[in-house]
Amino acid sequence: MTIAIIGGTGFIGSFLAKALLEATDENLLLMDYYINEKRVKSLKGNPRVSIIKSDVSNRAEVFSHVGKAENISTLYHFGSLMPPLTESELTNAFNINIQGTFNILECAREFNISHVIYSSSGAIYGPGVELPVTERSYRDPWTMYGVGKVCSEVLGTFYHRRKGVKFTSIRFPALIGPGRTGKGMTIFANNIIQYPAQGEKAICNVEEDIAVPVIYIKDSTKFLVSLHNHEHIPENTYNIDGVWMKAEELAELVRNEIPDVIIEYDPDPELTFMLRSWSMMKGESDAVFNDLNYSPSFSPEEMVKDFIAEVRANPEYII
Ligand SMILES: NC(=O)c1ccc[n+]([C@@H]2O[C@H](COP(=O)([O-])OP(=O)(O)OC[C@H]3O[C@@H](n4cnc5c(N)ncnc54)[C@H](O)[C@@H]3O)[C@@H](O)[C@H]2O)c1
Repeated sequence: MTIAIIGGTGFIGSFLAKALLEATDENLLLMDYYINEKRVKSLKGNPRVSIIKSDVSNRAEVFSHVGKAENISTLYHFGSLMPPLTESELTNAFNINIQGTFNILECAREFNISHVIYSSSGAIYGPGVELPVTERSYRDPWTMYGVGKVCSEVLGTFYHRRKGVKFTSIRFPALIGPGRTGKGMTIFANNIIQYPAQGEKAICNVEEDIAVPVIYIKDSTKFLVSLHNHEHIPENTYNIDGVWMKAEELAELVRNEIPDVIIEYDPDPELTFMLRSWSMMKGESDAVFNDLNYSPSFSPEEMVKDFIAEVRANPEYII
């Protein structure tokens, strides 16, 4: 059997690929359009791993590359245009993030892929969401990125109900860990740890008291592995709220590990404004714990310590 990961050389996909290789005896098909060679260096040459360049927005390519691979048990769909590009490149955002999910679901239907697991986000909610936020809260995104997430979830739920494709969407908080790249709204939480771990100064582009919910990449990876072959997943969508951390709280944890670190603040007013409205969106959801046995094992202190140690031990993580 084969496990497919779309966006398989991305931040989440590459961590998951390494974990699945250890946790299962299945082959892996990593499909990506912008293959990140550095992240998958250790997987190259492994006879259980195929890495294929393919565009998720191109139905023919998806059908030929994913459909051609025999016996796909689980397909993780992480292929995405990421913010802020989603907000300026609307056509690309539609083609990759909405048409792309449609292509994946059609391919799953056509080739009997048992389970599609999708990574959604809190961006599906808007500033007016009623608190506390739960799975049942009204989805009212204000960004094209969030629109893509809502459309993908709705499509996936339809394919689950009517077309026999098991679909699970996990709405992740900010994932942080070695080697996350990009310019997304929550990247500050990563950079504040990653740069000092590399021996560099960190410049934080939000105010000190801005908080975001975070989850460590190792905890999310462990959880994603557990979803493969999960016997009974009662719902199509689950929220993970994460641990709410202020920029300065993360900075303090980094200072505990690297006393001479330099962390400066140079806040971007618009980003700070957007994150302030998000900081109201405290979640309340036990479903992911009760239904799916989600159990994060890293405290914030352990996360920062482990993150720094990983960067130092594996320089290939360097952004
Ligand atoms: N990182 C986070 O904090 C976070 C939080 C919530 C949800 N997510 C979601 O998780 C998924 C993966 O995020 P990530 O952090 O690993 O980001 P990432 O940018 O590292 O990975 C996305 C991958 O998609 C690939 N991709 C882009 N266009 C493609 C195309 N046309 N065809 C095929 N592949 C294409 C990229 O090359 C990249 O490898 C995304 O859907 C993202 O929205 C991420």
